[in-house]
Amino acid sequence: MQIMVIITSMTKQISSKQLLEWYARNGRELPWRFKGGAHPDPYVILVSELMLQQTTVKTVIPYFHRFMQRFPTVQALAEAPLEDVYLYWQGLGYYSRARSLHTTAQMIIENFGGEFPSCREDVLKLKGIGPYTVASFLALAFNQSETVIDGNVMRVICRLYHLTRPLDEIGEDIRNKATALTDKENPADYASAIMDLGAMVCTPKKPQCLLCPWQESCQSKNSPQLENIPLRKKPEKKVKHGKVYLIYNAQGEIYIRKRTEKGLLSGLYEFPWSDDRELFAEMNSRTLEKEITHVFTHFKLLLTVCVIHSEQINSDGKFVPLSELENYPFSTLMKKVFPLLNK
Ligand code: ADE
Repeated sequence: MQIMVIITSMTKQISSKQLLEWYARNGRELPWRFKGGAHPDPYVILVSELMLQQTTVKTVIPYFHRFMQRFPTVQALAEAPLEDVYLYWQGLGYYSRARSLHTTAQMIIENFGGEFPSCREDVLKLKGIGPYTVASFLALAFNQSETVIDGNVMRVICRLYHLTRPLDEIGEDIRNKATALTDKENPADYASAIMDLGAMVCTPKKPQCLLCPWQESCQSKNSPQLENIPLRKKPEKKVKHGKVYLIYNAQGEIYIRKRTEKGLLSGLYEFPWSDDRELFAEMNSRTLEKEITHVFTHFKLLLTVCVIHSEQINSDGKFVPLSELENYPFSTLMKKVFPLLNK
């Protein structure tokens, strides 16, 4: 009887080694990934981690390839004009990441002699690297024993230990459990492995428990609540209404302007738009039927499309032929307007 109890509790032990074995066989091959320890080039990790903030792996892959071809080294990125960086970021959204990446590349060259720092305090001085990214950067670029906690990891940990209270109440418990589980000898592979487990097996819907290396120890495996773990309280997104203006001159050129360097979508080009006041109220305009909808992190934006014919606009933009629009970086929000041009 006693032996039975010991065996049962042994099989229930959760170990990072089980996950690492699974990862060696099943982990994803990703273009920024180096299986078997730290990546030899921290620049690759920096670029990929910034791209992967708020963007899925599938979306990032083609952007990553194009970006690395154009800016293969931190030096190349530091020397490039910011507008070029925006062009290669175009469509990924959250453009402050592109600006941060560019600034960070310049800091590496100017303040760190071209060598990436490997101590937490210095890495946190770089732009665009917060408490989440610093952990993944140090684990993946330098094999340091840091614990990555993203949405995938939170889901795995909550299910593994059956943490059913709302996520915003159990942050510390998740962090402690995730830290205790981190493999101290292979933190780089471990970080990739737990992210892969969350992305491929312990998925939000229809998790594939029979493929999980931790199936014997998972405390939620047979729970009818499994898909509802972790419990998120989603705040309702605020809706903002506004107008975007398509202004054509007699040659059929369209008016564009560059946003100022600070704030939302800064540095990108746009058709004039506003969500808090009427721009061009004094001009005759016609409204298109189709509205533009765009979801930002904290709000949803609904833009009515107004068409104006005018030869001169008192603002700091310019008229350009439609065929030249592709030479300017536009946000995903503005690209949604493109199919409505000339309508
Ligand atoms: N999400 C954030 N960083 C990631 C990485 N390195 N691999 C896969 N998904 C990620």
